[in-house]
Formats: sequence, structure tokens, C-alpha cells
Amino acid sequence: MQSQPCDLNEVRRAAEILVNAKHAIAFTGAGISTESGIPDFRGPQGLWRQYSPEIATTEYFHSHPKEFWAFYRVRLSSIFIAKPNRAHLALAELEGMGIIKAVITQNVDGLHQAAGSKNVIELHGTMKRARCIVCGREYPMDIVIRKIDSGQLPPLCDDCGGILKPDVVLFGEPVKDFDKAQELAMRSDAVLVIGSSLTVYPAAYIPIFVKEMGGKVIIINMEPTELDYLADVVIRCRAGDAMTALLSMVKELLNRGG
Ligand code: APR
Repeated sequence: MQSQPCDLNEVRRAAEILVNAKHAIAFTGAGISTESGIPDFRGPQGLWRQYSPEIATTEYFHSHPKEFWAFYRVRLSSIFIAKPNRAHLALAELEGMGIIKAVITQNVDGLHQAAGSKNVIELHGTMKRARCIVCGREYPMDIVIRKIDSGQLPPLCDDCGGILKPDVVLFGEPVKDFDKAQELAMRSDAVLVIGSSLTVYPAAYIPIFVKEMGGKVIIINMEPTELDYLADVVIRCRAGDAMTALLSMVKELLNRGG
């Protein structure tokens, strides 16, 4: 998908908001990881254009564990080889500079931590490990992949034979650490939203909380989102380009004394 150039006036306005904020956070979605080769869900090549979202529900996991894991094995092939991209790295650098205090992410790919982000809340869990639904034994995902690739579908627990479940939050399950994320958002005066369609709740409440508390909302997305109407700044271009330009603009403002 051809991306338009970033509007540098909007990038500058976003940089001014971040430099002047007392407690800015980031909120990210699958769109920050597409430049790392991981498909998103609702973009032009999104997963929900090939598969029904029903495949990521708890009901489907329990009724069709084999087909569930066949889908997740496809997802794991891109997640396992993915490396952080410019957007992840720029966000980690902004955290290191004290500009961004935390990252609240819907992503399960672990790329924020791999890029060096320290304070990360994974609302939708992680693909790094799986757990037996009977005895609770934990398995690193590379072991699970080996089980599947040797023909064990669905993958089973070595101890009790129970079915393994990835540590991701499926539709129908409560998100993780939402109280912590909400508390963080309620005391933030700016949120940088990167690569989310802002269509899934309760995660999409995070930028709404910041706005309701009088904070500023910056949205980086190649396409319109459901919450563009409440954004103070919308940067309509690729996350990698936007975050690279934003990082250098923040540095320029800081060097000039904000
Ligand atoms: N740069 C900027 N924006 C991008 C890029 C990119 N390189 N690639 C994709 N996008 C945008 C898409 O236009 C889309 O608006 O990122 C957004 C991704 O939206 P979704 O695919 O809906 O992903 P997300 O918002 O994270 O979905 C939330 O839905 O299916 C569940 O649990 C899943 O965590 C996921 C949740």
C-alpha cells in the first residue's frame, strides 16, 4: 500500500505536545508492527479479511482446538522472525529520554520490549508462551511450535496431556492489567496512539480517558480511525516515517529549549 508523506506541520505540533507534556504515554496497535512483517487485523491486508474473528474466541478455542492452533501457527510464523522496526525503536528512545512514560499495547508480539521499551503493559497478553488449561504448566512458545511442527495439533501438556493455550487474551476473556492501564491514562496529559483502528474495547478507552481528563490525543495511522474526531493531531502516514520524524523534531525542540 503506497503511503503518503507525513505532514511535517502535524509532526511538529505532536512534538510540541510531547515536549510540553508532564506525563505522556503511548497506546499501540497492530499497525505499529506491520513494517516488521506482522499482518494487522483490519488494514487492507488484515487477518480479519482472510479469517473470521470468531477464530480468536474462547468458544472456538474450546470447540476447535486443532483449527485454532493451525491459525495461531500461521500467525507465529511472522511473529517469531519479526524484529522491532523504526517506530518501535523511536518509541523506546522517547521513553529513554523521559518523554514517554509507558507503552500500553494491544500487541502480543513482544516487539516493544525487544526494541528497549521498559514500561510496557500488554493488555491482550503475549504470544511468548502458552499454558496447559488443565494443570497450568507453562511452555515457551518455541517448544510449542516444535510440538506442532512434529505433528502434535493441538499441542498437549507433557505432564497431564491437557491442551495448551497461548497467553493471549481471546475475545470473550477479560483484558490484562486494565486497572493499571486506566490509572496510568487518567494521570496522563498526552497519549500518542500508533497503528490502531481504535475499534476494540475496553482497550480503545485508553485515549478516551486521557481526553476526558483534559489531555491531548495524537493519532498516527495510515487510515482514518474511529476516534479521529477526538484527536488534537492526526498524522496520516506510515508509523515508521512518522515516529522517525517525530523523534528528530522532539530532539530539535529540546535542543532549542522546547
Ligand atoms: N503505519 C501506520 N498505520 C498502519 C500501518 C503502518 N505501517 N499498518 C497498519 N496501520 C493501521 C491500519 O490502517 C489500521 O487502522 O493500523 C491499524 C491497525 O488496526 P487493527 O488491525 O484493527 O489492529 P488493532 O487496532 O491493534 O486491533 C485491536 O483487535 O483483533 C483484535 O486482539 C486483536 O489486539 C487486536 C485488537
